[in-house]
Amino acid sequence: MGINLSGRNYLKLLDYTSQEIRYLLDLSKNFKDMKRAGVPHRYLEGKNIVLLFEKTSTRTRCSFEVAGRDLGMGVTYLDPGSSQMGKKESIPDTARVLGRMYDGIEYRGFSQELVETLAEYAGVPVWNGLTDEFHPTQMLADMLTIEEKLGRLKGVNFTYMGDARNNMGNSLMVVCAKLGLNFTACAPKELFPAEDLVAKCREIAKESGSTITLTEDVKEGTTNADVIYTDIWVSMGEPDEVWESRIKMLKPYQVNAAAMANAKKDAIFMHCLPSFHDTKTTIGAEIAKKFGVTEMEVTDEVFESKQSVVFDEAENRMHTIKAVMYATLK
Ligand code: CP
Ligand code: NVA
Repeated sequence: MGINLSGRNYLKLLDYTSQEIRYLLDLSKNFKDMKRAGVPHRYLEGKNIVLLFEKTSTRTRCSFEVAGRDLGMGVTYLDPGSSQMGKKESIPDTARVLGRMYDGIEYRGFSQELVETLAEYAGVPVWNGLTDEFHPTQMLADMLTIEEKLGRLKGVNFTYMGDARNNMGNSLMVVCAKLGLNFTACAPKELFPAEDLVAKCREIAKESGSTITLTEDVKEGTTNADVIYTDIWVSMGEPDEVWESRIKMLKPYQVNAAAMANAKKDAIFMHCLPSFHDTKTTIGAEIAKKFGVTEMEVTDEVFESKQSVVFDEAENRMHTIKAVMYATLK
């Protein structure tokens, strides 16, 4: 039987089968080809979507906006400063109002519970544009990029370095388990993903024939890697006070030339972005002044190297988000 995702929410990849994820990746490729060839695809003309952002964004917001317009839809953007959400109106009330006006709702915010509640009340598909726990739209872009660069997903040795218990570490472990990539979290013990999620992913990995490894040892974690992935050391919503301890804890897990040299010769470097690889940002400059660190999770050398595929990855956010919206709204 064919895959039909019409009417479904997209909240976390634990809710999706590997076949459904595969279907979304294939659909993304079709949309990318159409966009590149200039073939119009206004398949959802007449529909409207709303984008709710309680945290800042460049890639996710722009991807939803461009993808929505390419599909022929009307798009509204709301941030907490310009809506009643949270302060004067609860999430269930907001969901029920927006569900009456819009065909789909994107939400970026704090707890996973919030986006799940929104979905429970909205009556229309809800897409998770990042919570503290998961970042599922990023996962499709990452898998599409790996497949484009390495020609396969199954059996790929994928190493995530840094804060492995944040939304990115969690989501990457889940998607690797589902699609058969061997996932290694290379991080200090304190920042390993939660045990219950690791156990769940190990069960899933058994089915797909892959492995989940947690290690504090950089050499062990990076040797033979096909992909080395990292993310910022302090995520949105975390207090500024954690910078100092995080820098101390994660400095050994920086993706630098030595880490890349342990990996396979043709290994790729990935990052969801934004990234602190120099001091050309306000926060980057502040951190340099305060702690004397001029590069954080990745060195500028690796970020700018031929092995780095971060901008292909960023472009793929748009094609994959388009696939998610089309599949769930058509
Ligand atoms: N990777 C990502 O989600 O980027 P934004 O925070 O800019 O949306
Ligand atoms: N872990 C990061 C991801 C940004 C896309 C954050 O939550 O800020």
